[in-house]
Amino acid sequence: MRTMAFTKKGNEPLLELRRADTPKPASGEVLVKVKAVSLNAADYRSIQMGMVPKSRIFGADVAGTVVAKGANVTDFTVGDDVVADLASHGFGGLADYVAAPSSAWVLKPAGLSFQHASAVPLAGITALQGLQKLGRIASGTKVLIVGSAGSVGPWAVQLAKFFGSTVTGVCSTANVEQTRQLGADFVIDYTREDYLTGDKRYDLILAVNGNNPIRAYKRCLNSGGRLVVVGGALTQIFKTLLLGWAYSFGSKKVKILTAKPNRSDLVFLLNLVADGTIKPVIDKVYPLEQASEAMQYLSAGHAKGKVLVNVD
Ligand SMILES: NC(=O)c1ccc[n+]([C@@H]2O[C@H](COP(=O)([O-])OP(=O)(O)OC[C@H]3O[C@@H](n4cnc5c(N)ncnc54)[C@H](OP(=O)(O)O)[C@@H]3O)[C@@H](O)[C@H]2O)c1
Repeated sequence: MRTMAFTKKGNEPLLELRRADTPKPASGEVLVKVKAVSLNAADYRSIQMGMVPKSRIFGADVAGTVVAKGANVTDFTVGDDVVADLASHGFGGLADYVAAPSSAWVLKPAGLSFQHASAVPLAGITALQGLQKLGRIASGTKVLIVGSAGSVGPWAVQLAKFFGSTVTGVCSTANVEQTRQLGADFVIDYTREDYLTGDKRYDLILAVNGNNPIRAYKRCLNSGGRLVVVGGALTQIFKTLLLGWAYSFGSKKVKILTAKPNRSDLVFLLNLVADGTIKPVIDKVYPLEQASEAMQYLSAGHAKGKVLVNVD
């Protein structure tokens, strides 16, 4: 089978087209013919940190078709169309086939394309868990989403609207119209407006991207409000890990998200996409052989939506 394997040319990381044996599914695993993969910050951040999967094949968000199964697999049959986030199962999506535990997969809703399905898992679940689990979003919550473009941001904007909240999205000029079209009630262009110094207040701030002082975020929260840090610059994450607890004294809480793969969250999101309630925002689609270019584009940090690799 074809794989795009991680290698280095000098100090430069890249993904290289190589041939490998098609994996055999072990007990409890299914072998999936990969149709589409979406890339995530989890892929390029792992590369930057030198954390390479054992197979040397990146690609966590996979949609494809079950072509074989190992012993003790009762929940899928050959021919089922499936979707998974394989970040905790060794990645492996940037290849013609991947074998992974059946417990990682869910059925792809009929009528949803493989590309659209692959755009959902990691980024969609991150937005959902940030808003719902840590953010405790509810109807009427006033939400500020810092980083409303990219992989996670568009899911966050649409889900926050789905939950009945009032949404303010923060992005650069090029993405203002997109954020508005996704349903945001207000859009702030961070290149033109300092959105943390004014008198606007929010019940929930979802910090998907950027790098701001926690104190400045906290000032913009209503009493009882929550700051949920999802990502952004590494310093934003370290500051929150180190100091988040100290800023959580009083009614305003500071939380850092560690999104976890969750099959019922994934099914919930896939159904919302399949019935047209929320839309995947696809920025670019690359063929498998250009997965290295896809990864470079994404890691530059200004993708406008999901970056996909078409494997079929
Ligand atoms: N906590 C978790 O469990 C978890 C899970 C998944 C991802 N993450 C993290 O979440 C972050 C976002 O992930 P992603 O996959 O969405 O990344 P991404 O696709 O690479 O994000 C790109 C987007 O970020 C926007 N952006 C860049 N700088 C910004 C700034 N200063 N203010 C507002 N927006 C800015 C860009 O918009 P412009 O071009 O308009 O600047 C671009 O649209 C990453 O740091 C990732 O590591 C965390």
